[in-house]
Amino acid sequence: MLSRRAFALGTALLVSTALGTGCSKKSDEIVVGAYLSLSGADSTFGTDTKDGIELAVGELNAAGGVKGKKVKVLYEDDKSTAQEASNKVRQLIDRDGVVAILGEVASSRSMAGGLIANTKKVPMVTPSSTAVEVTKDREWVFRTCFTDAQQGDVAARFVFETLKKKKVGLFFAAQDTYSSGLAQSFKDSFTKLGGQIIVDKGFQKGETNFTTYLQELKSKSPEVIFAPVYYNEMVQVARQAKPLDIPGSMFVGGDGWDSADLIEGAGAELEGAYFTNHYAPDVPWENSKAFLTAYKAKYNHEPSSLGAQGYDAARLLFDAIKRASEITPAAIKVALEQTKDFQGATGTLTIDKNHNANKPIVVVQVKSKKFAYHSQLMSQ
Ligand code: PHE
Repeated sequence: MLSRRAFALGTALLVSTALGTGCSKKSDEIVVGAYLSLSGADSTFGTDTKDGIELAVGELNAAGGVKGKKVKVLYEDDKSTAQEASNKVRQLIDRDGVVAILGEVASSRSMAGGLIANTKKVPMVTPSSTAVEVTKDREWVFRTCFTDAQQGDVAARFVFETLKKKKVGLFFAAQDTYSSGLAQSFKDSFTKLGGQIIVDKGFQKGETNFTTYLQELKSKSPEVIFAPVYYNEMVQVARQAKPLDIPGSMFVGGDGWDSADLIEGAGAELEGAYFTNHYAPDVPWENSKAFLTAYKAKYNHEPSSLGAQGYDAARLLFDAIKRASEITPAAIKVALEQTKDFQGATGTLTIDKNHNANKPIVVVQVKSKKFAYHSQLMSQ
């Protein structure tokens, strides 16, 4: 006898084959896919983003949906791995017939999932993947955030011009698309400004003992250590730096630091540190206020930048669906390309010809175990 699961899968396959890619199973629903790290090493990236998307979906459907239909988002957990990201995107397209895809957060996984979406010609919108390559030569991939070329440039100018530090050590995950790319962008801009990279250290992704690296960094006496790594790694770095007398305020990072787990794990150790980001709950933007209120009412805590970015990416996609000539991947792609002055919680968005968004970059400081807005800069 067929198991219930196999039967359900068979039915789903039949239905999606009958309707073809791009159609929803029920004609009164528009089905969108989302693949995220809902578990594994970077799980807060996925869960926070999902919360932001859910808020947007709830608001949309309560107001009647789009084109007279409710939107349904199918979530898939890629367990924080690139291999699963590919599998999940393939499933969402082939099995579920989604018309568009939201995800991922980590650039390495958006690279993997984006390749499938691009090949299968289904538009994908990443809320937060900043590595330059993510949208490069990929017609069907869009992002609603700035790139690491921009983020690296802003971080370099912040260190050089605002902090007035001229000697920097770099510490990053060598094989990670995001971490090594952002370290390189920072290096390019910082040296152009006249600053010096006096030590440049890449560690292996997955390493957890950083003491030897940190001792070596310290021995070269940098004024700042630029560490564009993810929050889970940064917690370990900060904890291991403390006994070596490297103050937390010496570290500067990128958006990958954004997680409540960073504060919980190493908030005290990182007192005074700065990082570049998409958003901060106390950002002085008119656009962000309604979002902040709605998010807090639903979840009883402040949103991370992932929550805000997930919300914006979902709303921007729904706006494109509304403007699309029909509910097909191809028509939605055209509408996404035409996005102009979209009012997001993380700024006003225009999608450029490379499918990127030009936005202000926020500098956040770790202060009394909280993320505090410091300033904002536009990339030049
Ligand atoms: N920008 C990171 C990447 O591309 C992901 C990220 C975005 C992490 C925002 C935290 C906050 O991999």
